[in-house]
Amino acid sequence: MCRLPARLQRYICVTFNDDEGFAMTNSTGPILVFGATGQQGGSVARALLEAGRAVRILARNPAAPAAEALRTAGAKVFQGDFEDPASIRRAMQGADGVFSVQTSSPGGEITDAQEIAWGILVADLAAECGVRHLVYSSGAAVGDRPTGMGHFDSKMQIEAHIRALPIAATIVRPTVFMEMLMMPGFGLDEGRFSFFMTPDQSMEFIAVEDIGKLVSAVFADRERFVGQTFDIAGDRATGRDLERVFSATAGRPIPYARFSDEVLAANPFLQKLTALQDQGSLAGSADLDALRALVPDLLSFESWLAGSGNPQFVAALKASGNWAYSQ
Ligand SMILES: NC(=O)c1ccc[n+]([C@@H]2O[C@H](COP(=O)([O-])OP(=O)(O)OC[C@H]3O[C@@H](n4cnc5c(N)ncnc54)[C@H](OP(=O)(O)O)[C@@H]3O)[C@@H](O)[C@H]2O)c1
Repeated sequence: MCRLPARLQRYICVTFNDDEGFAMTNSTGPILVFGATGQQGGSVARALLEAGRAVRILARNPAAPAAEALRTAGAKVFQGDFEDPASIRRAMQGADGVFSVQTSSPGGEITDAQEIAWGILVADLAAECGVRHLVYSSGAAVGDRPTGMGHFDSKMQIEAHIRALPIAATIVRPTVFMEMLMMPGFGLDEGRFSFFMTPDQSMEFIAVEDIGKLVSAVFADRERFVGQTFDIAGDRATGRDLERVFSATAGRPIPYARFSDEVLAANPFLQKLTALQDQGSLAGSADLDALRALVPDLLSFESWLAGSGNPQFVAALKASGNWAYSQ
């Protein structure tokens, strides 16, 4: 299917998808967003709709509340699954752009091999269907060499595959989500905070809503971003910075310390990530000035905590629980 010269494919794909009400032969054609019922895909779908783009989403359950909300906001919902290539082909016919993101093994639901297979499948089908711009969301710790962490090295393989395909692609590498720091187990519920860096080391962070804004800006300027791979972040903070901003927002001291030796000894997953932080590959290396030029209202940790992140922070101060990932 779709093994035709790109121009002919495009003509056929456009001809059979003429119900989205826009000029489909130019770059304002629909963008198919994967993972749209989740964090990154949801952010991307909302930002693209906000920017006036035609958006399609692929959802395993089109009746899920998150899919319904996007349909109400104007997205066209396709039922589909990464395990069902025909469903992806259907959703891709006539798509101008594709945003690709997959879940990963620390979530506990899929293996690294599945993540690789799904990321490669989406890219292969996008190339096959003549998609004009593929944006793949990888991770900031991903580089040219394996890290020894399955969910980073999986993305390295997907990136390499995409670069070898005959498709115009951009690879964005999100840094740690600000939302992730609100998870139970990092200590906020006990009035303290622990993470991977020493108090003076810095790491980069991004609010999930900004992933969508940045990716939307990338789709809006295809010529500029095709062929590029770059980290995306909204802020860079040391442990001491986090202590300051968490304490100011909570109105009481929230001291920062790196994970204790006991915690690291008991959790090889955290131990490996902490080692990557010390080696410099976990921290992120985004060009914050360039990203802020692209999206001027990119959120710093301070502004996220004062705004859309505040309810999560308030809830995290009250929540209790353990670090969810145990691999
Ligand atoms: N946390 C961080 O700080 C961070 C930083 C950088 C990169 N990352 C990477 O971000 C990725 C996860 O992104 P996220 O947080 O946006 O994920 P998420 O919120 O867990 O959402 C996952 C999405 O994938 C969809 N999905 C799952 N299985 C599917 C299948 N078989 N077929 C089709 N769709 C399927 C889900 O749809 P359903 O509604 O059907 O379940 C959902 O929309 C991981 O690869 C992770 O390594 C995370």
